Amino acid sequence: MKTNKKSVPLIRAHKADGENPPIAMVTAYDAPGARMADAAGVDIILVGDSLAMVVLGYEDTLSVTVNDMAYHTKAVSRTEPSALVVTDMPWLSYHTGVSDAVRNAAKLIRAGAEAVKLEGGANRVEVIKALADAEIPVMGHLGLTPQSVHAFGGFSVQAKTREAAKKLLDDALELEQAGVFSMVLEAVPQAVAAKATEILKIPTIGIGAGPHCDGQVLVFHDLLGLTFGHKPKFVRRYGALGEMGIKALEGYVHDVKMKSFPSPEEGYQVGQGELDDFRYGRN
Ligand code: KIV
Repeated sequence: MKTNKKSVPLIRAHKADGENPPIAMVTAYDAPGARMADAAGVDIILVGDSLAMVVLGYEDTLSVTVNDMAYHTKAVSRTEPSALVVTDMPWLSYHTGVSDAVRNAAKLIRAGAEAVKLEGGANRVEVIKALADAEIPVMGHLGLTPQSVHAFGGFSVQAKTREAAKKLLDDALELEQAGVFSMVLEAVPQAVAAKATEILKIPTIGIGAGPHCDGQVLVFHDLLGLTFGHKPKFVRRYGALGEMGIKALEGYVHDVKMKSFPSPEEGYQVGQGELDDFRYGRN
């Protein structure tokens, strides 16, 4: 194992403070993405079910399956990153009973995930305990849980009322007690995320949850400018790879049309004798 390999116990113990900088987590879904993320020094690579939206072109995350997640986890884990590899359990892979949940999580672990992430609060305690019993580490996910898109009536900020904030904090404590090693807080008011971070011993990892979490996560395609259309307020773009890619492809199309690609140097040559054979069809 690499000496700088990130592990579940290391992350579990990592509360950001004066000595410990926040955890940096990013999604990746294939080998080049994982290599880039690891070379950049991220602590955790999340094979997120956002795969459905940013790679596979669906409107929401509900269409990806355990097999899809396992396939992409294999691609990421083949790169043997130093970062911890966590894979999302997709919708309906842990909602139909603990034995289904353990069997599905095991598929993801066998594909190379070192932990799984699942969405929900107190209603997931039994599943989390069963996974812990099967030695499968679990990351929690509260706030805007995209698999609840229809129940929420869209992708909107959560925990905005006093009751909803209290419910989120109660859920967070229940998840911690059930054994999660860290927790994503998505699209919740900064003050609520700060309170969760204060009361939990495990690290919180925010997305649209403000600066007081123990870590941050962004979607690979969002931060590199590879997503088109609406950009959520919490996304900071660190690159414009979409625009760069279109420019590069335009250059390619231009060169093909103008017959300036490929040049003779970009092809293979044969000796004159062989050429004569081709020309005159001699054996
Ligand atoms: O699937 C995903 O990308 C996620 C992150 C937004 C946390 O769950």
